[in-house]
Amino acid sequence: MEIAEMRIGPVVAASGAVGFVGESYWHHRLLRPLGLDFTGSTPVMKSTNLKPIAGNAPLRSNFRPREHFPRAIYADLMRGVVANAWGHSGPGLPAILASRRWQEFPEPFVISLVSDCPESSDRLEETREMVKLLKVELPFRSPVAIEYVFSCGNVGLPTVRGLDEIHATLEILRELDVPLGVKLSIITPVSDALEIASDPNCAFLGAYNALPDDAVLSDGRTAREVAGFVEPPLVPRVGVAGSYSGAPFFPYSLAWHRQAREAGITKPMIVGLGIMSPRDAVLAYHLVSCGGKLPTAVAIGGAMAITRPWKVRRTIHDVNGCVKR
Ligand SMILES: Cc1cc2nc3c(=O)[nH]c(=O)nc-3n(C[C@H](O)[C@H](O)[C@H](O)COP(=O)(O)O)c2cc1C
Repeated sequence: MEIAEMRIGPVVAASGAVGFVGESYWHHRLLRPLGLDFTGSTPVMKSTNLKPIAGNAPLRSNFRPREHFPRAIYADLMRGVVANAWGHSGPGLPAILASRRWQEFPEPFVISLVSDCPESSDRLEETREMVKLLKVELPFRSPVAIEYVFSCGNVGLPTVRGLDEIHATLEILRELDVPLGVKLSIITPVSDALEIASDPNCAFLGAYNALPDDAVLSDGRTAREVAGFVEPPLVPRVGVAGSYSGAPFFPYSLAWHRQAREAGITKPMIVGLGIMSPRDAVLAYHLVSCGGKLPTAVAIGGAMAITRPWKVRRTIHDVNGCVKR
């Protein structure tokens, strides 16, 4: 989908899939011959706060996790479900900019920003600080967009955020003069999404974040129930439940994004959560783009990358193919 000078998708590598600056993870090189290959997708970089965050996944100086199998990630390979309590471990925006990897990145990409401050006013202040830092460095070698995350249920903040804060954040980011998007989750009411989409500063949106343990879905079930866990698997490991994504959430995500289109959202949308195969991805693309008429990208997230890595290359190929036709 074209947004101003920026081309996103039709497939994006969701935030967390390829790291903070495209550094990827140690096993990507190993599994690349089998199909764990994001070539042909637009990377959304891993979300960064302004300041470094320790979180639950300690990092090396190259931004990769110290642990080869991070304790903050639990994968049910059979059912295609992932629990993650990464908790926004990250080097912080100044360190990322100091690496100059974003400035030199060879293709268009999406920056993902977030603030874990408990108070809304502090989150807005952090956004102002991030704008100051980014403004000095922009434009980069390649076009960028910014996706602001208002939906992380992993760090003790409300998964559904107030509309005032969302509009105010977009207004602050406007100064950067790049396309701005909003990452929600499927427990955000579609009516809120419609309101957000009407903001002239909002160029794209999607509701595809992983869902916190106690999130209540449209049918009254909790995310933990839908994910198929009796007890949260990450509590014994890192002390928090984290959030869930993967196959069982796909019907909910498809329904949410369809409803959003039916409610009248015609802006570019990123549809994701539970996309596990080329078939899922092509179906999601067709339904949410209304047969190719409305700008849409499909997100490949942690669940496919971790539990079905061999399907990544084929999925990107098939969605790109059905868009070109
Ligand atoms: C290990 C892991 C790390 C993630 N990190 C982020 C992140 O930093 N920012 C964010 O917005 N979403 C993050 N996500 C959520 C993904 O971007 C995406 O929304 C989610 O994985 C989609 O669901 P799926 O896994 O079912 O495809 C993460 C997910 C996982 C599994």
